[in-house]
Amino acid sequence: MPFTSMSSTVPPLLFFLFIVIFNLSISAKSWPLSQENKIQEQDKDPFVGFNIGTDVSSLLPPPDLVKFLQTQKINHIRLYDADPELLKALAKTKIRVIISVPNNQLLAIGSSNATAASWIGRNVVAYYPETLITAISVGDEVLTTVPSSAPLLLPAIESLYNALVASNLHTQIKVSTPHAASIMMDTFPPSQAYFNQTWLSVISPLLRFLSKTGSPLMMNLYPYYVYMQNKGVVPLDNCLFEPLTPAKEMVDPNTLLHYTNVLDAMVDAAYVSMKNLNISDVAVLVTETGWPSQGDKMEPHATIDNADTYTSNLIKHVFDRTGTPMRPEVTPSVYIYELFNEDKRAPPVSEASWGLFYGNTTPVYLLHVSGSGAFLANDTTNKTYCVAMDGVDVKTLQAALDWACGPGRANCSEIQPGESCYQPNNVKGHASFAFNSYYQQEGRASGSCDFKGVAMITTTDPSHGSCIFPGSKKVGNQTQTVVNSTQVAAGETSSRSLLSRGFCASIMILVTCVLLPFW
Ligand SMILES: *[C@@H]1O[C@H](CO)[C@@H](O)[C@H](O)[C@H]1NC(C)=O
Ligand SMILES: *[C@@H]1O[C@H](CO)[C@@H](O)[C@H](O)[C@H]1NC(C)=O
Ligand SMILES: *[C@@H]1O[C@H](CO)[C@@H](O)[C@H](O)[C@H]1NC(C)=O
Ligand SMILES: *[C@@H]1O[C@H](CO)[C@@H](O)[C@H](O)[C@H]1NC(C)=O
Ligand SMILES: *[C@@H]1O[C@H](CO)[C@@H](O)[C@H](O)[C@H]1NC(C)=O
Ligand SMILES: *[C@@H]1O[C@H](CO)[C@@H](O)[C@H](O)[C@H]1NC(C)=O
Ligand SMILES: *[C@@H]1O[C@H](CO)[C@@H](O)[C@H](O)[C@H]1NC(C)=O
Ligand SMILES: *[C@@H]1O[C@H](CO)[C@@H](O)[C@H](O)[C@H]1NC(C)=O
Repeated sequence: MPFTSMSSTVPPLLFFLFIVIFNLSISAKSWPLSQENKIQEQDKDPFVGFNIGTDVSSLLPPPDLVKFLQTQKINHIRLYDADPELLKALAKTKIRVIISVPNNQLLAIGSSNATAASWIGRNVVAYYPETLITAISVGDEVLTTVPSSAPLLLPAIESLYNALVASNLHTQIKVSTPHAASIMMDTFPPSQAYFNQTWLSVISPLLRFLSKTGSPLMMNLYPYYVYMQNKGVVPLDNCLFEPLTPAKEMVDPNTLLHYTNVLDAMVDAAYVSMKNLNISDVAVLVTETGWPSQGDKMEPHATIDNADTYTSNLIKHVFDRTGTPMRPEVTPSVYIYELFNEDKRAPPVSEASWGLFYGNTTPVYLLHVSGSGAFLANDTTNKTYCVAMDGVDVKTLQAALDWACGPGRANCSEIQPGESCYQPNNVKGHASFAFNSYYQQEGRASGSCDFKGVAMITTTDPSHGSCIFPGSKKVGNQTQTVVNSTQVAAGETSSRSLLSRGFCASIMILVTCVLLPFW
């Protein structure tokens, strides 16, 4: 839980060189990949899940909670226990769940194989595979919050694992334990990080276990607390994943890697800490991260705006799959802390304000995420549309329009002569419709509104009159434009809309269609 992470001591960033880099950001984006969104759903791909704390005064009954998760397309959750009603309600859904052994059960499980076996029987075997249990998180931040239980941690993990082996579930269900960031020392720069030596007798064998069983190192990572504890040293923008001027990027002097955000730096610090113990094949799973939307006088940065910025940018960061500077090929999955505001939690105020939703499922704030597909798109995200930019070269726009309606398979029927979006009959109007049609068809996936830089995402509904853009909830005003044959004929000569001329009918256009994707 986040409050305990307060203890994390984050050494000063002073080691950081703030080097000015002339970031030649060459816009070399390829045409959007239509597969991107579908890939999202596959198992090995990075995902964004949610922690579900239950100190909520009006928590939904389990069946309604599951319905809500499905509506929001949330497919990964972590529970702080193994609530039987909820596990039952999750049966036969696609939602994958991490269940937890609360800290107060460590003693019993760590000191008796029989107790561990019966825990697995009651909480895993009874539900799996109807309920897709993916992992067991054993205790929470045990080393830093209940150090007296530390000697039982590994025995508990091993007993649970052995019980899974006995049920032949050990390859499907992983066992690990979430740590606070404060088990790492000198996390800035990441290349100098190491685990606090005090815990080596627990961490070393734990890492060997994780490596042997292909399980992740679970880390609760809160750039919010890094910011709170390093006021004036770590810029807020770095904590919020905001685009940085090159001068604000943090450069690790040992590796010369550039860090644009604190979360990536923390993940790389975990890799380095493991490497110092000769472990390099254990993945980092961010079991908690988030930003509170409200705080007391001592927490002026716990605001709706910052929470929204952090969460929106975090989701974008995971779905963009940029990895971390040290491991660009691996993007860690994250579980946002948390789904609901836990209004029953004790002060400070921020403790009750980490949720994206109130207990009754009303959103606390609206995200600004585009490119996340349907994920959280119901209610929380502002509708987004993709339109042609102002002031761009007509030829480029036309080429992009041709691509969208051709190889891009956007539905361009509404911009054909006589149809409701034919007017205004110009390249920009038609391109906007086609770009948006493609963007919505791709589930508003990241990268699907680029078109070589001539398209942009907007939250303003571009629909007008009877012309309703895909994705809009507006309804046409019924004054369906009467097809005026004179108009249509005139239109055909001025419009270069692809379908109006018959797709790829002329060799000129055919060449363009084929060549475009390889620009
Ligand atoms: C639990 O089982 C393991 C492996 O079978 C064994 O090594 C260990 O001693 C047992 N622990 C207890 C407390 O019985
Ligand atoms: C390492 O952890 C121990 C136990 O929690 C703590 O007392 C100590 O201060 C930590 N070391 C550092 C350098 O912070
Ligand atoms: C890691 O491996 C190196 C080289 O094999 C060895 O010198 C070192 O002692 C090992 N460190 C640990 C913590 O096992
Ligand atoms: C969210 O989903 C529910 C159920 O499918 C639906 O009734 C509601 O209108 C949706 N809300 C939005 C904003 O799309
Ligand atoms: C294209 O859009 C039109 C108008 O919205 C619709 O009637 C038609 O079924 C769509 N075509 C396809 C292939 O989806
Ligand atoms: C959502 O979009 C509307 C207009 O399109 C805008 O007024 C509003 O501020 C946006 N809300 C958020 C949270 O971005
Ligand atoms: C319908 O849309 C057209 C075109 O924008 C507009 O001129 C007309 O006034 C609208 N009719 C109604 C009833 O809103
Ligand atoms: C058809 O369009 C032409 C040219 O825009 C216009 O002069 C004419 O009045 C229109 N006819 C009808 C029936 O709307």
